[in-house]
Amino acid sequence: MKILSKTGNELVMLAMKTEAASKGDYLIIEDEKAKRKMVVQIYDEEYLSSQSLIEDMVKDEVVNASSTENLHDPLNISNLSKMIRDARVFRAKIRAAIDPSNKLSNDVSWLPSRVYSSVGRLKISELDLLIQRRGLFPIPIGKAGVDNEDFEIYAEDLDGKLNIITGKKESGKSHLSKLLVKRLVQYGAFVIVFDLNNEYGGLAWNNDGSPSSIQEQVMVLEPGNSLKFSLDYCGKAAMSNMLKNALDMPAASLREFFRIWDWLENKQMLEIRALGNAITTSNINELVRDALISRYHVIQSSRLFLDNGNAEGLSFEKVISEKYKGTAIMISMGKATPVVRRMIVELVLSKIVDLLEKVMIPPIFIFAEEAHLYIRDTYWEDIVTRMRHFGIYTTFITNQPDAIGDGIYRQVDNIFLFNFTSDADLDKISRVSLADTDTIRSIVKTLPQRHCLSIGKVVCDLPIIVKIAAAEVLTLGETKKFFTRNNNNR
Ligand SMILES: Nc1ncnc2c1ncn2[C@@H]1O[C@H](COP(=O)(O)OP(=O)(O)OP(=O)(O)O)[C@@H](O)[C@H]1O
Ligand SMILES: [Mg+2]
Repeated sequence: MKILSKTGNELVMLAMKTEAASKGDYLIIEDEKAKRKMVVQIYDEEYLSSQSLIEDMVKDEVVNASSTENLHDPLNISNLSKMIRDARVFRAKIRAAIDPSNKLSNDVSWLPSRVYSSVGRLKISELDLLIQRRGLFPIPIGKAGVDNEDFEIYAEDLDGKLNIITGKKESGKSHLSKLLVKRLVQYGAFVIVFDLNNEYGGLAWNNDGSPSSIQEQVMVLEPGNSLKFSLDYCGKAAMSNMLKNALDMPAASLREFFRIWDWLENKQMLEIRALGNAITTSNINELVRDALISRYHVIQSSRLFLDNGNAEGLSFEKVISEKYKGTAIMISMGKATPVVRRMIVELVLSKIVDLLEKVMIPPIFIFAEEAHLYIRDTYWEDIVTRMRHFGIYTTFITNQPDAIGDGIYRQVDNIFLFNFTSDADLDKISRVSLADTDTIRSIVKTLPQRHCLSIGKVVCDLPIIVKIAAAEVLTLGETKKFFTRNNNNR
């Protein structure tokens, strides 16, 4: 490979067909005379095209089509001309430079010699050494680089961070997120997953049906069954958030609701049936009563609250203190209605913030699938700004990048980007993300299935394409089908 030109932080290089390299590969350019090196990443590949070359090809085709005679070519010119026609041009972004004392620097203003520079391929392990990317809690997620080396990111780089996993439908987003959840739990972290397809429960099982290594640490909560709270545990704050934000309760009714709540609490009768009785019998304005009754019915039919005062409801601090080994709490929201989903999320987030404020639980990782379906807009900002300080570290997983506001993209630390073909989605992502537009547009559009471009802290801001590994755990969540390909029953 030879350097053709440099503009800004971009290099254009010429390569013959035999010098294979692909988009995303890292190259190291060593200028022997200047004793300096440059690390560049290929982001686009095209044919070497000039007008005369194209005219030549057209002439050749015309000659071939009109004559059947073998052309006399003693100097083997045609072979050379074939090589030229197959020559390619790589466009690369300069990612870093290495100065004569072998230190990494970001001074990329110098020009490497076209004559004395050698271009070599850089393995991901060599790149890691150069940028000193290391950590104590590796999360292997697949293979990367020219030699298909095992690739890992580090849990430390997800800790305290905001992450986004995005890509088109069926590209493998949930799969990656399961790999991350599994490792985080193995390292003792506490994870809550808002699971829209009821698929994360599969983490408890291996593909062959045997229990997985983290089975004891997986807890699947179904609204109405294992996900039930006592009113007392929820407390006024979480309840008020739920009524206001998920059930649109007006302020006047809210005041009345909590007057009844206080009264029941004083009489130690705070439970769902007593609440219903009190609402129908107490002396309140009819309009307010209507408002309360309609909300009460939703609360009752959601089955999120215990109706028997003696039964024990869910308590996060208890789950976390019992399972000191790290736990994944999967909240299966697949079958819940949109209102119930919103209620669950309000209750859970309010309660978690409350517990974190009181330092009763350690920081929590939250994985939210398609969060725009159940988290109100203002909450997004809240989660990434305020809640982050309390210790809620979120990973959003979505196939609609435009559902996430710009304010959030601006604060994001890591993005795992799967294939996108739609220009609108690509536009959105490339406008707001941590890497440059050219890299994203060109690489992501042609990413093969199950490959993702990792950007951000996990890769020390050097974008890397990773072929995501298959999981050893059971993969649930495939769409139920009516017609199957291998239907032997017919
Ligand atoms: N790296 C991989 N190796 C093997 N199988 C994979 C891999 N990634 C994804 N799959 C499989 O491909 C299918 C789709 O993956 P997944 O459910 O993760 O996609 P998704 O992007 O979450 O889709 P959706 O947008 O529908 O939620 C699943 O059956 C999953 O098991
Ligand atoms: Mg999914």
